[in-house]
Amino acid sequence: MQVICTGSRLLNPIEAASFERSEKIQRKMGLHYPKETNLHFPINNTTFFYFCYMNILTPTADGSNTLFNDEIGEHYHSAHGALQESRHVFIEAGLKHGLEKFGKTEIDILEVGFGTGLNFLLSCAQTEEVNKKLNYHAVEAFPLPLASLTATGYHQYVSPNIWNSFIEKYDTAFDNSAEILPNCKLAISHTTLQNFSTQKRFDILYYDAFSVRHQPELWTNEIIAQACSFLKNGGIFVTYAITGNLKRALKSCGFQIEKLPGAPGKREMLRGLKTI
Ligand SMILES: C[S@@+](CC[C@H](N)C(=O)[O-])C[C@H]1O[C@@H](n2cnc3c(N)ncnc32)[C@H](O)[C@@H]1O
Repeated sequence: MQVICTGSRLLNPIEAASFERSEKIQRKMGLHYPKETNLHFPINNTTFFYFCYMNILTPTADGSNTLFNDEIGEHYHSAHGALQESRHVFIEAGLKHGLEKFGKTEIDILEVGFGTGLNFLLSCAQTEEVNKKLNYHAVEAFPLPLASLTATGYHQYVSPNIWNSFIEKYDTAFDNSAEILPNCKLAISHTTLQNFSTQKRFDILYYDAFSVRHQPELWTNEIIAQACSFLKNGGIFVTYAITGNLKRALKSCGFQIEKLPGAPGKREMLRGLKTI
């Protein structure tokens, strides 16, 4: 197991309490952090802590790695298989479906929650394979450091051309659109979805936020409506999750809903078609 520290700051008392909860989760999961990376101590007899956030690289059931986000208390991908989930939900049900449906030579994708970039890497490989052009825009509130990306082992799933260019241009993708391949551009907005805005409209929306249990603010009717406003008419919304609330939120934005078989470990997933 590898531990990656992504920054540290002072916690307020509420966060300190949640930190204690997260320690319990760690113990339950049998995770043991090296002491020196887990800096927490009382200051001035208060209950404040300095806490070093960590993303813990951990294998999933299909052998691919994911990160466990210590602050949120959730993995970046399904523990049943990070690679399987990404392929099943975003590549098969999202990208391949969209390429077939639209029949265009160029496709515009928006992703909410760029994280490790796995969905992007597989999308880039897929569009290259079928000789289509990809314009990929992602929104990410807490970008991972390059060291976290290189530690994932995701180079195994794409060509060296894609991987090397991705690693070389990851940082610049935050400022400008970066050309990962001649037919594949990547831009990442370092902001929350709540604060994100663009005039561009997209063919496919990969909605890959943490779960409603851990990040309910990313699954409200308002935020789903905001995210869907960035889709073109006829555009596709795709996510690993499915809840009654999400279905209602999408229907009220004029979407036709499809329940599809979920990735391993999940019975169902959701795809929506924007009809207005
Ligand atoms: C489930 S992970 C995404 C996994 C990612 N697609 C991948 O392949 O690694 C959720 C991501 O959403 C990001 N995030 C959390 N809150 C956010 C917000 N308010 N707006 C945008 N991104 C957010 C997290 O930092 C994290 O990278």
